[in-house]
Amino acid sequence: MITHQDDINLTDAHFFAKGDIHDLFRRMRQADPVHWTQGLLKRGFWSIFKHEDAYTVYRGASEYFSNGKFSVGLPSSPEVEAATKPEMMGSNRMLVASDGELHRDFRKAFNSMFLPRAIKQYEGSGRKLVLEILDEVLPRGRCEFVNEVATRLPMAIICDMMAIPRQDWQLMFDLVNQAMGPEDPEYKVAESAAATRNQAWGQAVGYCIRTCHERRGGNGTDLLSVIANARVLGGRLLTDEELGYNGFMFIIGGLDTTRNSIAGGLLELIRNPDQMRRLRQDRSLMRPAVEEILRWTSAITHSMRTALKDTEIRGRKIREGDWVVVWNASANRDEDAFVNPDRFDITRDPNDHFAFAYGEHFCLGAHLARLEIRLIFEEILDRMPDVELDGEVEWLASNLLHGLKRMPIKFIPRRAAAA
Ligand code: HEM
Repeated sequence: MITHQDDINLTDAHFFAKGDIHDLFRRMRQADPVHWTQGLLKRGFWSIFKHEDAYTVYRGASEYFSNGKFSVGLPSSPEVEAATKPEMMGSNRMLVASDGELHRDFRKAFNSMFLPRAIKQYEGSGRKLVLEILDEVLPRGRCEFVNEVATRLPMAIICDMMAIPRQDWQLMFDLVNQAMGPEDPEYKVAESAAATRNQAWGQAVGYCIRTCHERRGGNGTDLLSVIANARVLGGRLLTDEELGYNGFMFIIGGLDTTRNSIAGGLLELIRNPDQMRRLRQDRSLMRPAVEEILRWTSAITHSMRTALKDTEIRGRKIREGDWVVVWNASANRDEDAFVNPDRFDITRDPNDHFAFAYGEHFCLGAHLARLEIRLIFEEILDRMPDVELDGEVEWLASNLLHGLKRMPIKFIPRRAAAA
């Protein structure tokens, strides 16, 4: 049975900070897989919990379901809802929040840097970075894994791709945390969550606009230069807002998601020592292991759409203008799509997960994320064979990003190995 508390939990960032969200999703899939929540936000919203229905929504991109009409994230409180104007969240101004022709043109303009061939070039430099990061913590025998390891590789790679100067990396990190986790007391810098979020977006978007203007017309090959010189809709350059929102979108995409998959993946390998041992002994399992880490961690818990037409899913009538929230984290544990969905299984193959969504808006950074996760785990398996938890883990308060804020680990101290 679904209770009022279950509905409250779906929008409550602090419920997600307790870590185990899957009991709720399991009950929802069974009791009411296409569920309407009314009375918590000013607007009601549909929740899609099953794998098959997630396909239906993702396949209907641009025709039935829009990314650009509102935000792709469900507001986490009435206060945040009231303070969310679609244009402030980049609607119709950035790739992830656009539809149809504008989306296609944005995607064409940014795609080349994320194709497998382009990503391959980060194999060498990425591994060097991983070794440097691990070498800093290895001699100590313990560290706080999220901030000292998991965050650093994605941050270094995306900032390097965008040619963001080293002295600004910490600022980018702080702005991403404030924009994506404004309910979390640790990241709150203004009087309210909404004010924290809006202030962070404003500052980050402003930074990207200024940098793009400096690079426009030049022959830079970094991602901010690519954005600055991109042309869409018959050949026009991007507006200032498009420059700023697309720039910050890549910083968020590059940073916040991958670190959560890396940290969540290590947590699960520690909890399942048999799987960790198997992976260490048989590296050919790395490919399915990375996919299982992505499924298991579902770093982007949901993707929200706005219905463009009246339609029906599983007999429920969705009206034009309704919000439809696809819970990727629930679809990824659907009993009808996965055998033993609550078992973390590094040999699972095929693994038809929605960690990167599906269809038109399939994650542009998927190849990069897979590379980063693989590089980190290859080296951890070699250099921290005895890794274990060294205290309580702490989860982020967010119903959009599911991830760890802190994870203390310990291991037998070792001398730096990179030299
Ligand atoms: C484990 C890591 C990652 C996960 C779980 C993830 C997840 C997702 C998901 C679920 C979407 C669809 C959002 C929606 O349509 O509402 C998405 C889109 C996107 N992601 Fe990722 N992502 C990851 C890493 C990255 C990285 C490393 C980058 C880039 C540096 C990136 C850039 C993007 C972009 C640009 C889009 C928009 C694509 C479009 O709308 O056409 N992501 N990602």
